Amino acid sequence: MICVIGGAGYIGSHCVKRLLERGYNVVTLDNLEAGHLAAVVGGEFIQGDYTDRWSLDGLFSSYPIECVMHFAAYASVAESMTDPARFYRLNVVGGYVLLEAMRAHRIPYLIFSSSAATYGEPRQVPIAEDHPQEPTNAYGETKRAFEQMLRWYDVAFGLRSISLRYFNAAGADPDGQLGEDHHPETHLIPLVLLTALGKRAVIKIFGTDYDTPDGTAIRDYIHVTDLADAHILAYEALKRGAPTTAYNLGNGLGYSVREVIRTAEQVVGRSIPQEEAPRRAGDPARLVASAERARRELGWQPQYADLRTIIETAWRWHSTHPDGYADRV
Ligand code: UFG
Repeated sequence: MICVIGGAGYIGSHCVKRLLERGYNVVTLDNLEAGHLAAVVGGEFIQGDYTDRWSLDGLFSSYPIECVMHFAAYASVAESMTDPARFYRLNVVGGYVLLEAMRAHRIPYLIFSSSAATYGEPRQVPIAEDHPQEPTNAYGETKRAFEQMLRWYDVAFGLRSISLRYFNAAGADPDGQLGEDHHPETHLIPLVLLTALGKRAVIKIFGTDYDTPDGTAIRDYIHVTDLADAHILAYEALKRGAPTTAYNLGNGLGYSVREVIRTAEQVVGRSIPQEEAPRRAGDPARLVASAERARRELGWQPQYADLRTIIETAWRWHSTHPDGYADRV
């Protein structure tokens, strides 16, 4: 059985769905602070906090869990700069509580949601896994810290893990059942589409003076269902004896903010109000993955790689769920 921590969140919920489709037994643990009950499409669900050892002991003694997929974390870069303590408490101290509970209950495998934010300002693109990890924000630092803990928990205690460094997670369940619903929303693609729906007045383009062809920042957008598939492949690799390691997950394709808005306009069939704004602090000009190792070693093949497909799936979700899961006031 697989335990998905943070399985009611954006990426976790897509992963639960994919695991169930593949016939795995799943138990989700989520405190619903940011997650949505309606996003958990099946399996067992327990509402609880993964930083609470008592909850974890109850969960781990009630189900025959072989692997934990850990998605639960704070992820707002801006907030991590004003309140790093909150990020250390959940992402690092919480991670320690989880690892200790896994050790006590002899759960052998963990898949961890890491981030391109662990690399910081890239020295070159595309970024491969051996690029130095020098995060420029507290969020990325907490992700790096937990990756390091995982390394030493393998050396000392034999807990094997794979850290997956996502680039820009985007898109929605191709069936239209699940999608992105953050409060507040800060990510580009949902904000562009909410603007197309009239839920926002205008999309601001943060920075038009970057050293890129059109002056706006370039990112590697990767479909959330492709991320989910990589988790399952990583788990299967651990079962076959793969060592503790980390993989980048991206398409190796960079799109600028203007290209994203233009593609969204094509998908929705109308122009989207936009305005140029200053750079957002801490944003690198260009983040593009080399995910060759994940393709080669895990056999990962993204199915929804092109930007138009990613935006079409996101549009399907937002246009049919303009208030998301509609469970927040
Ligand atoms: N952007 C805008 N206008 C907006 C929002 C975003 O122009 O209203 C731009 C950003 O400046 C950036 C690009 O769109 O250049 C993408 O921004 P996102 O906020 O969607 O995502 P980030 O690239 O900031 O993602 C980062 C890291 C991830 C990390 C994530 C956490 O790259 O690794 O923040 O939320 F996981």
